[in-house]
Amino acid sequence: MCSMEIEIRSLEDGEERPIELMLLADPSLSKIREYADSGQCYIAKYNDETIGVIVLKATHPDTIEIVNIAVREDFQGKGIGKKLLQYAIHTAKDQHAKTLEIGTGNSSIHQLLLYQKCGLRITGIDRDYFTREYEEEIYENGILCRDMIRLSMELQHHDGGEGL
Ligand code: COA
Repeated sequence: MCSMEIEIRSLEDGEERPIELMLLADPSLSKIREYADSGQCYIAKYNDETIGVIVLKATHPDTIEIVNIAVREDFQGKGIGKKLLQYAIHTAKDQHAKTLEIGTGNSSIHQLLLYQKCGLRITGIDRDYFTREYEEEIYENGILCRDMIRLSMELQHHDGGEGL
């Protein structure tokens, strides 16, 4: 549980993007710039400092994808990632999306735990995505990050709409 008083809000127009934080989740600056332009960025603030970020992007019809999620290293493991994910679930529902998606590396063991604890389920594997899309090799937990594990969640709506 996160007992810290944090505020999560949309990044305002003209406010600087927390690129350093986003780089923790994605080593590609060009990809970050691309989805930061087309997506919606939300930040977690604690005592006026930006300590977390989550970027949502509408991809397929009725589908919102979490394209970046990161918590500042000295604030990790305190439940903030979970709060950001819960915020994303609420936001996607508010925007009437039916599905929330995320992709992560086969080597991202803690992330896979977190996403499944938050209710997302593995739906597919994009084999060799990272070896294809990233110039530098990525190693985590002693293994090469090669495949993208895709997870998703069907969103419940309380207005009689579809969704599980
Ligand atoms: N060891 C074991 N489990 C961990 C873990 C770790 N180091 N970090 C997270 N988890 C799992 C736990 O299961 C935990 O659940 P619990 O509280 O029920 O035990 C759950 O994740 C929630 O952890 P939380 O404290 O909310 O996560 P966080 O604030 O550290 O945020 C990340 C998670 C992934 C956003 C954060 O670690 C991060 O920024 N990592 C670097 C960037 C990144 O990898 N982004 C995702 C790219 S796909």
